[in-house]
Amino acid sequence: MSNEQDIGRGFSRLSTSYIMLSKLVFGNALLDSQFYFLKQLKGRNRILLAGIGTGHLLKEIIKQDIASEIVCVDISEGMLEQTQKLNSSCAFQKSISLQYICSPIQGFVDEKKFDLIFFPYLLDCISAKDIITILARTKRQLNPSGKIIFTDFYIPQQPFLVKIYARLLVKILLLFFNAICKIGVKKLPDFDSLFSAQGFQLVAEKKFYRGILVTQMYALQ
Ligand SMILES: C[S@@+](CC[C@H](N)C(=O)[O-])C[C@H]1O[C@@H](n2cnc3c(N)ncnc32)[C@H](O)[C@@H]1O
Repeated sequence: MSNEQDIGRGFSRLSTSYIMLSKLVFGNALLDSQFYFLKQLKGRNRILLAGIGTGHLLKEIIKQDIASEIVCVDISEGMLEQTQKLNSSCAFQKSISLQYICSPIQGFVDEKKFDLIFFPYLLDCISAKDIITILARTKRQLNPSGKIIFTDFYIPQQPFLVKIYARLLVKILLLFFNAICKIGVKKLPDFDSLFSAQGFQLVAEKKFYRGILVTQMYALQ
């Protein structure tokens, strides 16, 4: 079995309990952080949701009426099933074109460009080397006025106790996802540097959960 199949099966095993587990640790913060920028976004956008998981972000995007077309990519069949269960009827009601693709994001290509690309708690599951390749491709997949919405874990430098807690929490989460999903990631990369090295400019950001969760909006420079 390839590593990709291992990862997909691991996340499928987690798919029915994922939201409950995430709420147990973070309350609503994992979802709130992903939803934060939606109210500021306007128009009928072509959207890529990478690592869609159980589909709560998709549901909120449909509710906010900011999409004409949404492409959901996830490595896990189980996660995509959960997403489809949650969303099939509401997208139909709003006549949004919805596409579900079971694939590692590393291998995903689309000829048409996107207005918005979301990475919600996905890039912490991917090696720094692959993130560089993904972001380089993302640059070509984004419309010139397009935006990236990135949401993930962050290690705040202050206060000291929060920094220690954040490091411990991220370590435990990575151990957990390595044990079940074999993601092969040992430490959180410096996401800020990876984005700026690829020529993305930070437009806005908001921290959640004592600064341990961050959501950022990036644009092309
Ligand atoms: C930590 S979960 C986050 C799920 C969802 N975004 C959320 O925040 O509720 C990571 C998601 O990314 C998917 N995933 C992990 N590695 C992936 C990859 N290389 N390509 C595409 N999806 C991936 C997993 O199947 C899972 O649905």
